[in-house]
Amino acid sequence: MVVAVSVPGENGSVATASAATVPAEGVSTLTDDVVASAAACDDARLRFVFETLVRHLHAFVEEVELTSDEWLEGVRFLTATGHKCDEYRQEFMMLSDTLGVTSLVDEIAHRASTGASESSVLGPFYTENPPGVAHGESIAAPGCGVPLDVRGHVRDADGAGIAGAALDVWGTDGDGLYDSQHSEHVVDCRGRVRTTEDGSFAFKTVVPQSYSIPTDGPVGAMLQRLGRHTFRPAHLHFRITAEGFAPLTTAIYAAGDPYLASDAVFGVRTSLIEEFRHGDASGTATLERDFTLAKTGAT
Ligand code: BEZ
Ligand code: FE
Repeated sequence: MVVAVSVPGENGSVATASAATVPAEGVSTLTDDVVASAAACDDARLRFVFETLVRHLHAFVEEVELTSDEWLEGVRFLTATGHKCDEYRQEFMMLSDTLGVTSLVDEIAHRASTGASESSVLGPFYTENPPGVAHGESIAAPGCGVPLDVRGHVRDADGAGIAGAALDVWGTDGDGLYDSQHSEHVVDCRGRVRTTEDGSFAFKTVVPQSYSIPTDGPVGAMLQRLGRHTFRPAHLHFRITAEGFAPLTTAIYAAGDPYLASDAVFGVRTSLIEEFRHGDASGTATLERDFTLAKTGAT
């Protein structure tokens, strides 16, 4: 049971707080009490998110009749997830990804059509400010996989090319590993290319491979206990920025990959599936793909 009381604020203002009183026997006011504990919070959005989270969380505990042992296992799981995080590993991000939360947040953010290309999960392997490479140059060390030529355009919603857009690109090597997963941590298969005057871009890398997300942590253990596989279909990540346009975080997925329909992190969108064409006599594969950016503030 909750009773509203007034408490003096920092500058003499009066805030409303709540004081819990002992509820009648057999009547639980726990959820309402926890919700009311934030009544003095002056950030309306934060208060709303907190209150809703508490209500859903309590409803979940009620519905599954969570036991003390299960609750403790959950606390240990989250603790282990935090301990697994470091500069190169974001286990909490992977937890969000594998629960579909990352993609759901992304779907909500892009509900209103802006004409932009669809987005996809950033994943834990993005690094800011990758090394710049000139138009047509390679972001991959020689011999680390099947050579791939990538080209396309970055356009606005009217189809006009955007000059000077920056494309941060990263993908796995031919062994299905990101550079940060190798113990040497040498930058490879990642870089920043810029569009030319007509909005075109071109770079070389290697054909990415489908790969297992890291399984040596609590998220991997969770997937194993759930009987889920841990693979992502082969893809190349892009984070595209340009002055006056909303940044686009996306990925292009290889047509025909066996994991397209069961991506471990739910990142695949049909519009992002593209043919990585093989067949060049030199053994080089090609990927052609255009992207559309929406103007900042477009809805
Ligand atoms: C990735 O595509 O790099 C990725 C995304 C989510 C979890 C693990 C890996
Ligand atoms: Fe990836």
